[in-house]
Amino acid sequence: MCGIIGMVGGDAPRFVVRGLKMLEYRGYDSSGIAVALGDSVHVQKGVGTIDRVVSVVPNGIAAVGHTRWATHGGVSDFNAHPHVDCSGRYAVVHNGIIDNHAELRDDLLERGHVFSSETDSEVLAHLFEEGMGRYGSYLDAFNYVVSRIRGQYAFAILTPDGYILAARNGAPLLVGRSGDSVFVSSDPVPLASVASEIYRLSDGARVILHAGALQILGDYVPVKNVSVRSVDLGNHAHYMEKEIYEQPRALKDTLEYLCREQLHWDLNGRIHLIAAGTSYHAALYGEYLLRRLGHDARAFVASEYLEWRGRDPDYVIAISQSGETEDVLSVLRNADGPIVHTITNSPGSTIEEYSDAVAYTRAGPELGVAATKTYTTALLALAGLLTDCDLSAVPRAVETVLRTAESEIRKYVPTLASARSAYFLGRSLDSVTAREASLKLKEIAYVHAEAYPAGESKHGPIALVEDGFPVVFVAHSSRLSDIDGNIHEMRARGASTVLVADVPSADISVPAVAPELFPIVSIVPLQLLAYHVAIQRGLNPDRPRNLAKSVTVK
Ligand code: G6P
Repeated sequence: MCGIIGMVGGDAPRFVVRGLKMLEYRGYDSSGIAVALGDSVHVQKGVGTIDRVVSVVPNGIAAVGHTRWATHGGVSDFNAHPHVDCSGRYAVVHNGIIDNHAELRDDLLERGHVFSSETDSEVLAHLFEEGMGRYGSYLDAFNYVVSRIRGQYAFAILTPDGYILAARNGAPLLVGRSGDSVFVSSDPVPLASVASEIYRLSDGARVILHAGALQILGDYVPVKNVSVRSVDLGNHAHYMEKEIYEQPRALKDTLEYLCREQLHWDLNGRIHLIAAGTSYHAALYGEYLLRRLGHDARAFVASEYLEWRGRDPDYVIAISQSGETEDVLSVLRNADGPIVHTITNSPGSTIEEYSDAVAYTRAGPELGVAATKTYTTALLALAGLLTDCDLSAVPRAVETVLRTAESEIRKYVPTLASARSAYFLGRSLDSVTAREASLKLKEIAYVHAEAYPAGESKHGPIALVEDGFPVVFVAHSSRLSDIDGNIHEMRARGASTVLVADVPSADISVPAVAPELFPIVSIVPLQLLAYHVAIQRGLNPDRPRNLAKSVTVK
């Protein structure tokens, strides 16, 4: 989703271009940069990759950059950020949504401003221009902009003489410093390798960056433990593949962290688990674990949670690998009373602000848009935090899958790659794996897939089954006898079935672990399956169309 990066100091444009490349993984459709040249601002922007749009940029004293994921206004060169005012002197980059942009635009048009994009963001540049006309000072003009807008945003304004003025309200924004260089970014990662101090601005805070000076107006918190992102693919063709193969290491690191910190959550009363996308599947896993322990637990898709207001829980467990998903944050922002426990892969992310307790997964940076290692480590963290299970066998079991299952997996790639649709079925905890496997196939291979509890398949879904229809079953050996009948029902109707199980006779056989831990192991061959189906279909699994890694709008 949209990303902001800026710097004042030597080599600012080069840093901004490098930072934009580090934001690429979030998903974007266009990008751009503005460079302060001393007496003017140079803007370069357009649709396409950062390499294409900002391959050569002039040097300057300060710069801001942006990756855009279209919300207001289509994907086009003129809708790409930065946007400038009528004079072309001030450049603006913006994340989030300005709710009252339409009335502001009408107002500005009436007063003679000329717009060159369809975005809500452009009003910021014109408001700043107007503020400068009225007050003549950067700070007053900036305050004027903030006073006029409503919504959820982070934005930064670049001036020709190298000031960056930035504000945050509900969308992430961080600042950093290193010697005489000062930085602003919507993501901590580009700052990790350059800034000696990093601060996350609180909602309502504003910041002014200028030659060696960082002036924060409002609240902020220091950020520590941000991992320096490696953009090295090693021997892998894609980040998704690399990240799938990193899972044994990621699981080991998460396990070590949980043991070292002796983290265990003793929760009671009513517990709600809240998350989105893949993390919602982790929440479902947590729900199963807690219910088995006798707790009153329920997982919710974050964007639907408000429907449940009035049934306030004692505890909320929020799961978000990015820690920035707006659907999740807005639940926490509005939660009144519950104790909030969070699992995230992103130290320094906004979710920490709303959390009473935070546990980290130690997956390391995940650049593939489709979550893989952040999912399995979130499951491991849930098992470690909520149960007394012995988790030590899990990393080794995943390592074995990655060593042995690839050839079995490849056998099923052609069938799925040419399928119009597929089912993923499992019972109990395995139905969580079925959901996640089906999402993976949809997200990166664009094959329509649905997941059902296996028992439900005969109550409707089976109507679609005809010769060759792919149906993937997942079952721990303790649940195998329960799905045997479902497998036969599907085969009898011509389905092309694949069984993932911890028995040697399975089509894709994985090592045995305890039934509660099986989802951490059994999803791995299905991640690989989705990956290979995407490759077979000629798709880039790291950049699935229309998806973003971190969804910071509702
Ligand atoms: C986006 C991503 C998904 C992710 C979801 C939740 O939709 O494309 O891969 O699962 O956001 O992200 P979170 O960072 O909250 O886990």
